[in-house]
Amino acid sequence: MKNIRKAVIPAAGFGTRFLPATKAVPKEMLPIVDIPTIQYIVEEAAESGIEEILIVTNSYKACIENHFDQSFELEEKLKAGNDMERLHMIQRISDMANIYAVRQKHPRGLGHAILCAKSFIGDEPFAILLGDDIVVHKEKGAIRQLMEAAHTYDGSIIGVQPVKPEVLHKYGIVDPKSFVSEQIAKLSGMVEKPQPENAPSNLAVMGRYVLESEIFDYLENQVPGAGNEIQLTDAIARMAKDRNVYACSFLGKRYDVGDKIGFLQAQIDFALAREDLHDAMVEILSAALISD
Ligand code: G1P
Repeated sequence: MKNIRKAVIPAAGFGTRFLPATKAVPKEMLPIVDIPTIQYIVEEAAESGIEEILIVTNSYKACIENHFDQSFELEEKLKAGNDMERLHMIQRISDMANIYAVRQKHPRGLGHAILCAKSFIGDEPFAILLGDDIVVHKEKGAIRQLMEAAHTYDGSIIGVQPVKPEVLHKYGIVDPKSFVSEQIAKLSGMVEKPQPENAPSNLAVMGRYVLESEIFDYLENQVPGAGNEIQLTDAIARMAKDRNVYACSFLGKRYDVGDKIGFLQAQIDFALAREDLHDAMVEILSAALISD
């Protein structure tokens, strides 16, 4: 497989689960402690060697592009105040990768959002990272693990983790045909948001993909599926009939920051993991538990 240099981050959703916070602020800009969720996603891609990132946005999300751009006035102000620590923090954000944006003009679903990246990707294999899934790892980012598997097995790789039966209906669920290693299975298909009795396995898609560019041939004529949306899962399932598609159970703790409880859990865990906040957080949490 060719080198994977490009990634797509779909960020055109309306964030209805987080209203009213997302009325004027894109959900991707809501912070976990003090870093917008989309910055964690861009960092994961950049750390894995991705050089070019296309963010699929919509007309009220220009501040995402601004966040990854240079901020001349702010930098000058920090320089004048000799605040070098914050200056470097700000400069690092705009230096991480080359960021591009395209607008999804009609909200027709994840598959349609990815199709908006067709001319940016061309005929290279590419990564997709969904903004609702933040993965904390000990050694290697989730997308890096998938990129390595794509080189070994020469095909598309879908990142999965096992889930409990009661949440199968929230995810894309893969249909493994045969396991080629402990972590990697060749797929015969995938189903988007099945009822537990129709789920082909307990392995759920967790917002990380490495896909061959042939996926666009399938997305172009994909009919709407679950939720009457053009589903990426359905296009990958059709591609799996013709080409090699694998699932890789990646390592790392995944937070669903698109869900209120997942978002709050991430706030607590990320704050506890920060040296500057740890002790104060322990005090606050212990006091809250005692007074509960
Ligand atoms: C999307 C995908 C689904 C995947 C999920 C979590 O669904 O369509 O296959 O399992 O993200 O990454 P959404 O949560 O946007 O409805």
